[in-house]
Order: sequence, then C-alpha cells, then structure tokens
Amino acid sequence: MSKGTFYITTPIYYPSANLHIGHTYCTVATDVMARYKRMRGFDVMFLTGTDEHGLKIEEKARDAGVTPQQFVDKVVAGIKELWKLMNVSYDRFIRTTDDYHVSSIQRIFKMMYEKGDIYKGSYRGLYCTPCESFWTESQLVDGKCPDCGGEVKYAEEEAYFFRASKYADRVRDLLKSGSFLEPASRVNEMINNFLDCEGGLQDLCVSRTTFRWGIPVDFDPGHVVYVWLDALFNYMTALGYCNDAHHDLEKFWPADVHFVGKEIVRFHSIYWPAFLMSLDLPLPKKVYGHGWLLLDGGKMSKSKGNVVDPVVLAQRYGVDALRYFLLREFPFGSDGNFSNEALIARINADLANDLGNLISRSAAMMEKYFGGVIPEDREGGSEDGELLRMVKELPSRFEEQMEKYAFQQALQEVFKVLSRANKYIDETAPWVLSKDDGKKARLGGVLYNLLEAERVCVTLLKPFIPESCEKFRAMLGIPADRFGWDDALLRGVLTPGTAVSKGENVFPRIDLKKELEALEAIHATKKPQAPAEEEKKESTVEGVISIGDLQKVDLRVGKILACEPVKKSDKLLCLQVEVGAETRQIVSGIHTWYEPQDLIGKKVLVVYNLAPAKLRGVESAGMLLAAAVGDRARVIFLEEDLPSGSRLS
Ligand code: MSP
Repeated sequence: MSKGTFYITTPIYYPSANLHIGHTYCTVATDVMARYKRMRGFDVMFLTGTDEHGLKIEEKARDAGVTPQQFVDKVVAGIKELWKLMNVSYDRFIRTTDDYHVSSIQRIFKMMYEKGDIYKGSYRGLYCTPCESFWTESQLVDGKCPDCGGEVKYAEEEAYFFRASKYADRVRDLLKSGSFLEPASRVNEMINNFLDCEGGLQDLCVSRTTFRWGIPVDFDPGHVVYVWLDALFNYMTALGYCNDAHHDLEKFWPADVHFVGKEIVRFHSIYWPAFLMSLDLPLPKKVYGHGWLLLDGGKMSKSKGNVVDPVVLAQRYGVDALRYFLLREFPFGSDGNFSNEALIARINADLANDLGNLISRSAAMMEKYFGGVIPEDREGGSEDGELLRMVKELPSRFEEQMEKYAFQQALQEVFKVLSRANKYIDETAPWVLSKDDGKKARLGGVLYNLLEAERVCVTLLKPFIPESCEKFRAMLGIPADRFGWDDALLRGVLTPGTAVSKGENVFPRIDLKKELEALEAIHATKKPQAPAEEEKKESTVEGVISIGDLQKVDLRVGKILACEPVKKSDKLLCLQVEVGAETRQIVSGIHTWYEPQDLIGKKVLVVYNLAPAKLRGVESAGMLLAAAVGDRARVIFLEEDLPSGSRLS
C-alpha cells in the first residue's frame, strides 16, 4: 500500500556542454532520495531535465555552425546517456523546448500579464554589449563588466517586468516561517541580500529582445520570455500545468522538495514562490540548497575547463563507487573539495575493506565451515549484545538522517555497524571456534549474526549503491522479496538451509599510486575537458572557425635547450625543445633571421600536436609560432616565466 506521494526534482541543466561531476552530484543525491522513498512505500515522481533556451546556447550553436535545436539535441542525448550510466532512476525528463512546455509558458506569461503582475516598462542601466547584460553600478568591477571586463554604456531597452516587489513581504514571511528553505543558514543570506537590502526586492525583468532563442511572448513577438521564468515553471508544466501532455498535477503538486545548488537558491526561494503567489498556486514544501564540489578550492566550471569527467571515473571505479563517494565524502549542505585521492582512499577504506571484505569473509567462512548453507543449530554468546543492539537500532537512526537529507550521516550510521561487525569477527575468532567440534553451534551463531547484520546494512545501502547491493543480496542468499525496508526492521530473515556464496569481488582494492598516475595522464590528454560533440564540429561559415576548430590545436609552452644548423641547408635550424617532461626535436626555417645563440634558453610557443615530418631528412615533431613582419619571421618569445609544457587555452 502506498504511503502517499513524494515529488522530488533536480534543477534542469543547461545543455551548453557536457555535464561534469558537480551536476552528477546533485542528480545522484536526488536519485538516492527517490529510491529511498520508493523503498519506504511512497509513490514517487522524480523529475529532471534540461533548460535549453537563452543567449549562451544561441551563441554556442552559432560557434558550432548548427541550429540551437540541433545543438541542444546532441548535448541532451549525452546527458541522458550519463544518467543511464549513473543508474539514475528518473520518472520524467522535461526539456524546455518540448512543445507542451513552450505553449504552457506562453499561457502562464499571459495570465500574469492579464493579472497586472507582468507589465511593460523599460530597462535602464549600464549595458555590456558583448555579454548582452545590464548591470547596476555596484555590480561593476573597476567600472567594467563583471563578466568580461569590457566597457559598459548607459542603455535603455523595452522589456516586461514581473512585480516581484508586490510579493516581497509574503516571501519574507515564507522564508522566516520555518522549514521552507534549508539548510537554515541560507535563510538569512537570502533575506539580507535580496529582501532587506537597500531598495528592497526589485521587480524582475522577464523578457528579452536582444536574442531569439527563447519562448516568444505570443502577444508581443519581439520579446522572448526570460529563461528563469521559462525554467522554473518546468516543475509544474512537467505535471500538466497549463497543458494536456501530463495529468498528474493534482497528484504530485506541491513538490516535496527541490534540490538545487546554492547559487540558484535565490531563484528558487524568492522568485519561484513569488511567481506562484501571483497565480495563487500552492508553494513547494521545501527548497534544499546543497553545496558545491570544488576543485582546487574553486567551483568547477564548464567555461573554466577545470571539470572532472564522471564518465571516466564511473568507468574506472564503477558507478556505485562514485555514487557512494559523492554522498559519503561531502556533507550535502556544504561545499566539499573533490580530489581523486580522496575518491580512491574512500573506495578502499569503506567499500573494499569495511563492506566488501566483510561480506566475502563471512560468506567464505560459511562455505568453509558449513558448506555454504546456513545451519540449524546456533548458539548465542557474550560478544553478541552490542552488535545485535546496533543492528536493531540502525533502521531508525538511518531514517532520521535520510529524512533530513543528511546522506553523509545516514551512511556513517551504516558503516558504524559494519565496523562493529568487523570487530565482532576479531572478538569471536571463528577460526578458533572451528577447531573445536563442541563449538559448532556457537560458530553457526556467530556467522549467522554477521550475515544478518550484513543483510540489514546492504538493504539500507540499496538507494546509494543499487547494483552492488543486488550482488551482495545474491551472495548472502537474501530472497529477492525479502529485501525491502520492512525486512530491515525484522530479525531472522535468513533461514536455515539458505545457500550463501562468496561470489565475485564487488569492490576490488585500488592501487592508489598507480591509479593517481593513470588519472593524471588521462587528465593531461583531456585538458580542458573534451568539448561537447557540437563544439568539435567544424564551422560551416567561411573564414570563421568554431571553438572546436581552435581546440584542435594543442599549443604549449616550450623551452629551447639546444639548437644547431641543419647540414646542407642555410635556412633550417634543428632545435631541442623541452615541453613539460619531454624533449621535442623541431626543425624550423628561421636561420635567415636567428643564430642558435639567439634562441637557446628562450621560451616559445609550440604547436604540439602537428603531424611529424622530415625536413631535409631530419625529423621534426612540432612547430614554433612566429609572426610574419614584412618578409621576416619573428619568433614569439614569452616574457612571462611560464612552466614549459603549459597548455594554452
Ligand atoms: N538551468 C539552471 C537551473 C534551472 S532550475 C529551474 C542552472 N543550470 S546549470 O546547469 O548551470 O546548473 C545546474 C545545477 O548544477 C545547479 O544546481 C548547480 O549548482 C549544479 N552544479 C554545477 N556545478 C556544481 C558543482 N561543482 N558542485 C555542485 N553542484 C554544481 O543553473
């Protein structure tokens, strides 16, 4: 019987490039929650999707020489593949380019306009032309655009505005009213920065006229709807609000929780409720603002290129190991620093050792001492008390943390029991008991207590590492229909006669040093992260190259170590150039203008991935960059003391 409904959402992702481990983090957390609630008997709706409109996508498509729709179609296909790989069990996937969503947004915009909550005005302010963005004086950095550092100028643009100011008091009350926004630390930040700031909550500009890739305002076609208004309503249009594509609005709205990253808490906790208030719609029950995964202390960013590819990590260590690490390592509400070292250490300590090794050891002992069959005769002993008590209390402790979205603590509770079980093996020393025929029943009791503890732990771990738990289930002989939440509350689910087997090694130990080297090598060849397929496309516009074209050229800093003229040539010099750890031989036709002593010790730019060639019979692997000045070539020497091997981006 269903315990009721549970509606949970991820943010909808911008398909401007392939997603990275930071996006994967939020989606995996949502998946774990959805699986947990299903296990608890809820009728769950887990929604995710993509936020496909806006200037950025329009520009990316232009750079790639394809239409915006072609561009997003390809990236979205990759996103769906990623979620499949990560075993994400979403129930619905919304794209803001879906027809039903587009027409719903047009209706929503009109309703708000007719109500008087959207009005036409003009946007006045400081405008950055390349970024197509308005800024206030206080947002500028040294008087320049905070995004690109370019000049800004005063400009005025006709636009529609949403009367956010009208809802400021109700939004403040909502934020103060308790548990709408979590963690609680984010509440004051929102109130102080956006509601109680100077001038209070300003009306929000909700249309644009400077680009086309958006949902047209149907009664004023020069305007497209601002992407955040378009995007936020996905949570309702996906259920059938203002459309007939779906029919579960009554069943699932209001949402139980929106999981969002901390930088978009503002949109979800201020504008989203204000939009809903404008339409007299019920508000979501909760917005949870999780922290960021940081890399070297900074946010991962598609534009910075410092992203970590979840596909590589999942393929090397397994999807479950990655899922586990993401939720075990970082407290959900705070930022955390991602490192490959932490990932591998965590897999080894928790999954390979505490969990995997415990289960295979216990199963192996069952095989060795009882032929792999749970015995009838079992005897208790003085060592049992604490372990049995901890196992009994585990489901409620776990539940308490899960209900607070405290994934890290929920996992800690399970691993406390696993550690206790490991200690129990040392205390009871089954290998000693096995030597004494009179202790056979005690040995049976010890192994049984272990298997039961493992059964409960593995059942609770299912939402986090579903595939591995299925393997452990088979090893422990847990019947498939006794692997649910209610079974975790019971004792003695494993019955005498049940077959137990050691099975495969589910989480093999990883050689930390070797793996770090391998990852470093992969990283070096991938840096910056492989662009989306679209970006790799060659531009179709004559004389214009795409970013993908540019990224094909691997330019590196090199240091000239040695140089000599090529025999029988008065134009060619043969150079030995240090590029990172490697020394490259490059032949260059610059002898007319340079003597070897002019070059040795200089730092230069090298085309690193040029196909090797022979010049006058001498191997050349790469090319030096030089500028043509009149009829002379001037080599580009670097003033800056950059390390050799550094890649240009
Ligand atoms: N399209 C908007 C969301 C609209 S929701 C109605 C958007 N998209 S996004 O692709 O830029 O980001 C989606 C989510 O990924 C955000 O919640 C963001 O916080 C999260 N993350 C992106 N990088 C992240 C990390 N490095 N770490 C954790 N989460 C990160 O914003």
